[in-house]
This record gives sequence, structure tokens and C-alpha cells, in this order.
Amino acid sequence: MRVLCIGDVIGNPGRMALNKLLPIVKMQYKVDFVIANGENSAGGKGATPDTVREMMAAGCDVITSGNHIWAMKEIVPSLEGDQPILRPLNYPPGLPGQGHIIMGDICVVNIIGRTFVGNFDCPFRAMDDILKRIPDNIKIIVVDFHAEATSEKVAMGYYLDGRVSALFGTHTHVPTADEKILPKKTGYITDVGMVGPTHSVIGCDVDEVIERTISQVMHRLSVSKDKSVTFNAVLFDIDDITGKTISVERINKEVSL
Ligand SMILES: [Fe+2]
Ligand SMILES: [Fe+2]
Repeated sequence: MRVLCIGDVIGNPGRMALNKLLPIVKMQYKVDFVIANGENSAGGKGATPDTVREMMAAGCDVITSGNHIWAMKEIVPSLEGDQPILRPLNYPPGLPGQGHIIMGDICVVNIIGRTFVGNFDCPFRAMDDILKRIPDNIKIIVVDFHAEATSEKVAMGYYLDGRVSALFGTHTHVPTADEKILPKKTGYITDVGMVGPTHSVIGCDVDEVIERTISQVMHRLSVSKDKSVTFNAVLFDIDDITGKTISVERINKEVSL
């Protein structure tokens, strides 16, 4: 199974780029299943049922998320099962939504890191727990680890090596160049990047971010209006029988809106 994992989709430009590029990429790379992080799909912060619908219509199968998933309250019914959108598994118990989903032969899990992100339950123990609950006949397990620190993500990769098919990092919106197959055949990348304006600071307007960084006055940021949009994704080719990764490839494209 060829699984395409797409970085955080940023607002309207991100969704438009997804619409334009995803059908082409799916055909070109013979993609079977698409996972995209949608936590920034609505105006750069949060997701709504409409932005999720738009991402699904563009060709996504499962939408993952992260710390910004709670920004838009109208997403809650979707998290409760209306749409295939996940929120990180290791939030405190009792919150709406789920951190994993099984669709046919594949299980997608979404976890969140703690270093420089927040006081969540331990993502390592959360993975131990969920792996015990996924039926044995599900061989393909792909994890979106939404985290800031590269070291925490690398450590998780090795912790899960041989226990999941692939792990891709999200949240920083900046792709890393360390895609690899770990010793026990788990496909890995520290961060896949984003689908968002090319000339931006992780998707946001450059001048606003510089002003905010210097002044330390935390105004709400706007999505950059740059007409060029970067599309960052990673493709894992996974053996259907063993669930091990055979190859991993970064796919980076750019499109003008
Ligand atoms: Fe994000
Ligand atoms: Fe995030």
C-alpha cells in the first residue's frame, strides 16, 4: 500500500493547493491512501466541517490534527464520528473525538508531543496502550506524531520501530531531510512540512510575525497572502502482508494560485 502523508494544510491557500495538486500527485505516484494534517485548515488555526469536507473532496482519506484542533468549536461533532478526523490520542480522558481510526486494512494513529507543546499524557505510554488494542489482522499502522522537538520525534521513531509501519512528524510546518527506514523497517521522517504559502513564517504573514517577535505583543496572525504555495508530503510504500516499509520518498511541489 502506498500511503501519502501530507503536512499541515494552512488555510485557504493550503486547501486550494491541495485541490490543485493532490489529484495529480495521487495519479503520478499511484497513491492508495492519503493522510493529511488539517489542524490549520480553517484560517490558519483550527478546522471546520467544511474545511474537512473540502480536504476529503480533494482526495484525503483521513485527516489528522494537533494542538490547534480545538480552535473552532464547530469541529466537535466531526470529532465525534461525523467525519474521519482525528485529534491527538494522548489528550486527557473524556474529551470528544478519537486518536485512532481503522479504515479497511490500515490504522492511522495521531499523537502529540510534550516538549515545548503542552502537558499531555505520555505519548510513549499512549502508543503502548493503543498498539495492544489494534486487532492483529491490521498490519498497516501509520502514526502522525505532532510535536515540536526533533529529539522527541526521533526518539518516538526508534521506540516504535518494528511496531508500526511508518511515523511522520507534523507541527513545525518545516520539512526535515531525514526520511529513512529504521532498522526494524518502520518508515520515518521527523517533519513532513506543510501545504502553505511559500514566502511566509510557517504559513503566516512575514511582516506580522517579525513585528510580533520583536514587540512581544501577541496579536493574532494572518495567513500569508503569497500566491505561491508549497506542498510538502512523504510517500511510504508499505508491504501489505508484513506491514513493513519498503521505501520512503519526500514529495515537494510548488503551485501558483
Ligand atoms: Fe500546524
Ligand atoms: Fe500544531
